Amino acid sequence: MAGKFITIEGPDGAGKSTIIKLVAERMEADSAIPVLLTREPGGIRISEAIREIILSPENTEMDDRTEALLYAAARRQHLVQKVRPALLRGETVLCDRFVDSSLAYQGAGRKLGMEHVWAINQFAIEDTMPDLTLYLDIESHLGLERINKGRKAEDLDRLDQEDLAFHERVRDAYLLLLKEHPERISLVDASENIESVVDACYNLIRERFNNELF
Ligand SMILES: Nc1ncnc2c1ncn2[C@@H]1O[C@H](COP(=O)(O)OP(=O)(O)OP(=O)(O)O)[C@@H](O)[C@H]1O
Ligand SMILES: [Mg+2]
Repeated sequence: MAGKFITIEGPDGAGKSTIIKLVAERMEADSAIPVLLTREPGGIRISEAIREIILSPENTEMDDRTEALLYAAARRQHLVQKVRPALLRGETVLCDRFVDSSLAYQGAGRKLGMEHVWAINQFAIEDTMPDLTLYLDIESHLGLERINKGRKAEDLDRLDQEDLAFHERVRDAYLLLLKEHPERISLVDASENIESVVDACYNLIRERFNNELF
């Protein structure tokens, strides 16, 4: 495929959505190649419908494997309908979360096993893997604090311990993926201020694709 496929990953509150938008703006200014900024489910009607089923508070009986399968299904449709066509047109695709999120959240967070979650996702994505994954690393409690900003510290201290343990499993899984795939995944310290994190991400993209994109 001609275009470059770049994903951004990391725990809740790492700053993925904030950072990728600013990175996309810089790329649009500096790169001659068109940039598509997207996120799962990416406005794809079928994927949005699946996402609604996953997130609906009515569906309390949802089984963890069902959840993993639905995420994989939503990912498949977004990939086929939006990501692959853009890559085929030669565009740079920047995607907020992709398969590593399922490995970390469903595989490790929900304890389904990363290898099982990989198996269903491999069926969903076939051979379309990111050329580069920017992993925004942040300690779980700091990420959660960012998301819960505005709440009082006492309330954060009362955060369900299970909740924090879930998020710590997610982060540990990301760090394991980083160790296993150093050629694809690059770590960025997301505890720095927004400008520094954007700079770090942008520099990694430039280092990796300098000749092709700039
Ligand atoms: N480097 C940073 N320093 C301080 N605050 C930040 C930084 N990056 C993001 N934030 C703030 O943290 C909050 C969460 O950011 P954002 O929504 O981008 O995170 P996210 O990783 O996309 O989270 P989610 O996993 O929930 O989608 C926002 O209020 C954002 O302004
Ligand atoms: Mg986000």
